[in-house]
Amino acid sequence: MLQDNNSAELVIRQAHVLDPATGLDGTMDVRLSSGRVAEIGQELRGPRELDAVGLHLFPGFVDVHAHWRTPGREDEEDIQSGSAAAAAGGFTSVVMMPNTDPIVDRPVVVSGLVRRVEQESRVRAHVAAALHVGLAGERLTEMRLLKQAGAFCVSDDGLGTASAGVLRNGMLYARSAGLPVILHCEDPTLATGVVHDGVAASLAGLPGSPASAEDAATATALILAAETGAKVHITHVSTALSAALVGFFEDRADVTADTTPHHLTLTEDLVSTLEGLYRVNPPLRPDGDRGGVERALREGVLDFVATDHAPHASEEKELPIEEAAPGFLGHETALAALYTDLVLDGRLSLARLVEAMSCAPGQWVGTGGSLAVGAAADLALVDLSEEWTVGRSTLISRSSNSPYLGRTLTGRVVATIVGGEPVHDRTGARFGIRA
Ligand code: DOR
Repeated sequence: MLQDNNSAELVIRQAHVLDPATGLDGTMDVRLSSGRVAEIGQELRGPRELDAVGLHLFPGFVDVHAHWRTPGREDEEDIQSGSAAAAAGGFTSVVMMPNTDPIVDRPVVVSGLVRRVEQESRVRAHVAAALHVGLAGERLTEMRLLKQAGAFCVSDDGLGTASAGVLRNGMLYARSAGLPVILHCEDPTLATGVVHDGVAASLAGLPGSPASAEDAATATALILAAETGAKVHITHVSTALSAALVGFFEDRADVTADTTPHHLTLTEDLVSTLEGLYRVNPPLRPDGDRGGVERALREGVLDFVATDHAPHASEEKELPIEEAAPGFLGHETALAALYTDLVLDGRLSLARLVEAMSCAPGQWVGTGGSLAVGAAADLALVDLSEEWTVGRSTLISRSSNSPYLGRTLTGRVVATIVGGEPVHDRTGARFGIRA
């Protein structure tokens, strides 16, 4: 921690402040007071100062897709370790997915999680409740009661919804309860393989799931969103066609969509390793899809990035790919992977990356994503020149299933501040208290 949190005021001095939401882009001082951004300018001084020369200051990142495994699989992650990993990645706010054990499909589970988040989380965390009971795709949950218990939205993440009829009723019900819907679009009658159904699967002799598994489910969800008027967010878009479908519907439905750092930076080529580490849903795609998704993010057709942070125990990942659990860690490497592979390569501007990690998801969640004076003091301080190698010992998550293990990346979060208080701190000697 940054020391001396008794003082409510902190001046971050001479960082390069970049906030596309307010248009700030330059070296300046930022005063935080009473949990809010109080003043932005030059020559600001205060009792607590942080020397941020050479660093970048962004609105804190917002991740609408996190699996913190509480309740049920705290051996893989829990609210403390998940929120510490999020803070290490510069995230100040997340949405927790409901595919836990038990599944978050009853008010008592929602209210229990809300209480635990208040006590245990370093960052703001919103609870997504299940769209249907047991995520079984048959009976809808009691969404009004879930909302009263504190649910922020509903989701079918992890499994998707096989029946279009159930999905349509779910959207109508969620709309009347005033809850947004986050959808995992994969049709289980088509998604029967373990990797993408393409060249890499054929060479490896592995059963594949075709891109149509995602595209058909995405089309269905978008058509139903347009018809029902529900507020729908399509998560982890991984194909060029699904991204194009989102674009077609962006003015026809109340719809937003994200893609993940891994679908933007990795491809099905990793399947040739046969390693369980690289299994994920939806699967890694060919480079044509990766490029289509990248273009859609660049152009704003895909609104933002979400990590799908999905910790798994080593005994579930260190297996042949057919037997491994799907999912990747995401919080701690998101910024560095995207900065290294897309921004440094000139394929995405730094401003668009910040918009996609902070401003747009912050707007979706309703907090954070802006450094406007008066906004919550949720910030990420980043060293864009630091190179670091992703290793088990560098990861704060309780699990280590990062697809970037062993990769040297550029760009690292130095400090994360939530409501004016540091929740992750590698600032070392940069901090000073003036007499
Ligand atoms: O690969 C995945 N893992 N995709 C999901 O949608 C769920 C996640 C998990 O919970 O492990």
